[in-house]
Amino acid sequence: MKVTVLGAAGGIGQPLSLLLKLNLPAGSELSLYDVAPSTPGVAKDVSHIPTDVKVEGFTGEDPSEALKGADIVLIPAGVARKPGMTRADLFNINASIVRDLVAKAAQVCPKACIGIITNPVNATVPIAAEVLKKAGVYDKRKLFGVTTLDVIRSETFIAELKNTELRPNYISVIGGHSGTTILPLLSQVQHVEFSDDEVKSLTTRIQNAGTEVVEAKAGAGSATLSMAYAAMRFALSLVRAAQGENVVTCAYVEGDGKYAPFFAQPLLLGKDGVDQLLPIGPLSAFEQAALDEMLPALRTEIENGVKFVKES
Ligand SMILES: NC(=O)c1ccc[n+]([C@@H]2O[C@H](COP(=O)([O-])OP(=O)(O)OC[C@H]3O[C@@H](n4cnc5c(N)ncnc54)[C@H](O)[C@@H]3O)[C@@H](O)[C@H]2O)c1
Repeated sequence: MKVTVLGAAGGIGQPLSLLLKLNLPAGSELSLYDVAPSTPGVAKDVSHIPTDVKVEGFTGEDPSEALKGADIVLIPAGVARKPGMTRADLFNINASIVRDLVAKAAQVCPKACIGIITNPVNATVPIAAEVLKKAGVYDKRKLFGVTTLDVIRSETFIAELKNTELRPNYISVIGGHSGTTILPLLSQVQHVEFSDDEVKSLTTRIQNAGTEVVEAKAGAGSATLSMAYAAMRFALSLVRAAQGENVVTCAYVEGDGKYAPFFAQPLLLGKDGVDQLLPIGPLSAFEQAALDEMLPALRTEIENGVKFVKES
């Protein structure tokens, strides 16, 4: 199994590389690429950790060498938010970075699963899809927007609020990955009851958790360490599924189009990426209203991504 990280020298990329070196199955390969010239050094540094994962580092303008033979490509390349910015403000810079990196992946490793971390995820995933379609290699089962951070934040905040045990993957977060498009399905959490006020305040906190970090970092970037953990957890889900395990996870994918062309929802992963789209399940009246309300914004962000590739 070979995992390639594009943007590996960044705030997310470095701790993600560390976590993958520590947690990928023995015999895996880890390939690190970033335009930052320090990237071979990051790879050298991580390679001194005694686990059976081979690490290589690449820099320069062309990521092709890093992508050769990749089964999974994780993309946190781009710029992150500063206080006062929304994820949509990142569009102009990050759209072309994702477009160009995915075009290379389409050439070099067309069968790889691709996990997009770069924001705005609601638009960068449709951008990636259009690029893969142009190259004639699009397989919607293999393209994901990584929304695991919304899931782990939900897990943490619920456990804090209700003083309950932390349980991984016990909550679905659907929709997209920005503001009100992030919708945690609190009504479906087993063995925990929430008052109406708790539902409202917890939902808002989960939706704004990224901004909580951006403001606390006071200009030094957005979530990196928790995001690195989330991306590792997502990547390991793909690895376990590729090895034959049934794994359920939420991610932002091209689904059945019932709500929007791309939608974050629970998925059953298999050897080739998405094996089945799982139902989102029954919604409370609050969740149904929030879903109805978010869809126009989500659809617009998706259209912006598609338009960007069509016009470029
Ligand atoms: N999906 C999520 O939940 C989530 C959470 C947090 C951050 N993010 C996003 O992840 C992205 C990265 O955040 P960060 O904090 O690591 O930023 P960062 O600025 O610390 O790192 C980004 C890295 O990308 C590299 N890069 C830029 N252009 C590149 C290119 N063309 N090819 C390869 N590498 C390139 C930079 O050199 C840098 O090392 C941002 O867009 C941020 O908004 C997503």
